Amino acid sequence: MAYDNIIVDVEDHVCTIKLNRPDALNALNIELLRELGKALAEGQKNDKVRCFIITGSEKAFAAGADIKMMSEKSFTDVFSGDLFTPEEAAIMRIRKPIIAAVSGYALGGGCELAMMCDFIIASDTAKFGQPEVNLGVMAGMGGTQRLTRLVGRAKSMDMNLTGRFMEAEEAERAGLVSRVVPCKKLMDEATAAAKKIAEKSMISVMAIKESVHRSDQMPLSEAILFERRVFHSMFAAEDQKEGMAAFIEKREPQFRDR
Ligand code: CAA
Repeated sequence: MAYDNIIVDVEDHVCTIKLNRPDALNALNIELLRELGKALAEGQKNDKVRCFIITGSEKAFAAGADIKMMSEKSFTDVFSGDLFTPEEAAIMRIRKPIIAAVSGYALGGGCELAMMCDFIIASDTAKFGQPEVNLGVMAGMGGTQRLTRLVGRAKSMDMNLTGRFMEAEEAERAGLVSRVVPCKKLMDEATAAAKKIAEKSMISVMAIKESVHRSDQMPLSEAILFERRVFHSMFAAEDQKEGMAAFIEKREPQFRDR
């Protein structure tokens, strides 16, 4: 499928989606977000795809929701049209893992998009921020919510209220990103991580994603019970027999996603 605002490439079971509005630092307009949702849905259906990477350019992962698209909208436009709700839902319903490979600016909706992914690998040039306060608004795609869960109230308040940017090193210390790598190595590192995931049983991988996502939506006791029951259910799959047998027989497992 041809897209205008993203570039999609599938190789070695990894679907890499590059945000591609260089003149606007990959600002997220509705067209781009819809294309992103479509590409992810296609990949979800495609057996050749076992992991996604969402990335941008060296200068910007994405500098936010498109301010020019929003500037003239009224309350009625955004409330009645439910701005960003279906676009966010299209990303959050994807069951295969999504890695964000972030270089440069990840601001506003860009930071929020990265946080919708399952984990973030950042280049040492990455800058995260929720600067919506400077525009007389506030974050609207999870910047006051996911960020707070990831980095805690103090840093979330600081970033959302002052609009300051967080450099990669601080983001790693705070738990927003899982790894920081030199800028030139970003895609190699993200691709290696995606390929590593692609070798696993998709049953394990999708169950792990679902279970980790429960951790911020349920009380701990309920979430642990959810995890335990999903773990129990995995004993119905061939891949559990294969994975454990391969360990005992000291060989590599041959997972079949069954
Ligand atoms: N929306 C629309 N266009 C944007 C944009 C955005 N979020 N961010 C950058 N651009 C455009 C600029 O308007 C500029 O276009 P022109 O050449 O046509 O003027 C082009 O991208 C390059 O940007 P700059 O000249 O500003 O580049 P810079 O290197 O001087 O600065 C920057 C980079 C600090 C990221 C700066 O562009 C900036 O502050 N961008 C806006 C960041 C922001 O406020 N993001 C939050 C958006 S609101 C949001 O996301 C709401 C939500 O939660 C859902």
